[in-house]
Amino acid sequence: MIPQLSKSSVSMRDPERVEQILTSMREAGSSTLQVISDFDMTLTRFAYNGQRCPTCHNILENSKLISEDCKAKLQKLLDTYYPIEIDSTRSVEEKLPLMVEWWTKAHDLLVQQKISKDHLARVVKESEAMLRDGYQQFFGHLHQMSVPLLIFSAGIGDVLEEVIRQAGVFHPNVKVFSNYMDFDDSGVLRAFKGELIHIYNKREGALINVEHFKELQSRCNVLLLGDSLGDLNMADGVLGLKNILKIGYLNDKVDERRQSYLDTYDIILEKDETMDVPNAILLYITGQ
Ligand code: TMP
Ligand code: MG
Repeated sequence: MIPQLSKSSVSMRDPERVEQILTSMREAGSSTLQVISDFDMTLTRFAYNGQRCPTCHNILENSKLISEDCKAKLQKLLDTYYPIEIDSTRSVEEKLPLMVEWWTKAHDLLVQQKISKDHLARVVKESEAMLRDGYQQFFGHLHQMSVPLLIFSAGIGDVLEEVIRQAGVFHPNVKVFSNYMDFDDSGVLRAFKGELIHIYNKREGALINVEHFKELQSRCNVLLLGDSLGDLNMADGVLGLKNILKIGYLNDKVDERRQSYLDTYDIILEKDETMDVPNAILLYITGQ
């Protein structure tokens, strides 16, 4: 039906069900569609030329805004907690408090660095941040078809926005829910705003944003993109949901995690650094 679904990186638990969902979504048309996506390692690349690409947090960590001592501390946190994040032998219940601990410690360290708002654009420009190949088509098509793109990210909103702005794709149909920095009157980071968003509370985030989903009530079909099992709940606030198609990027520890991804995502993309499959699906659903 969609040639890109035969790519070697694609696996599906139930291809017939995927086909049914796609057919229903296509029949309903683009005016009933919304796209809900994670950011880090979903819209951005996991690796390029064998090197890992940065997350929003890594963009700051690798920059001149952070002291060497702080970098070492953040790296230590990453070395401690990232293996836990992707450990398929631990339950979400077990991981959740540890993820809160990671985010809290990382944000406390960042706040101590007196980061200036004025420097963020330059830091992003000088970073190795990369959106996945085919991102222009992805963002451009959604914009052209007036399909809302909601980005739920446990990264840093200010950094994320700068990445998509500099890539020229921060179109008016894009809405971001993330951790935003709170700057004092002189433009220096003093805290993070609101409730902390980490990888396992996107569901709460989605439910808090239910008011926002009300505006989108006629958009009962959801294309969800994520790379962690925590991303599966991002559409929980959607009212009157009819169809949802969940696409999961399986970037790391592929063999250990394949089964849990196959059980929960409709389509999994293994070590695929492109937006080819989401783009082909979007073209299909929107009748192009
Ligand atoms: P998300 O992709 O689900 O929005 O999550 C953000 C990613 O940020 C997650 O994979 C872990 C990563 N991260 C860092 O790289 N460094 C940090 O200091 C923290 C707190 C998170
Ligand atoms: Mg992610």
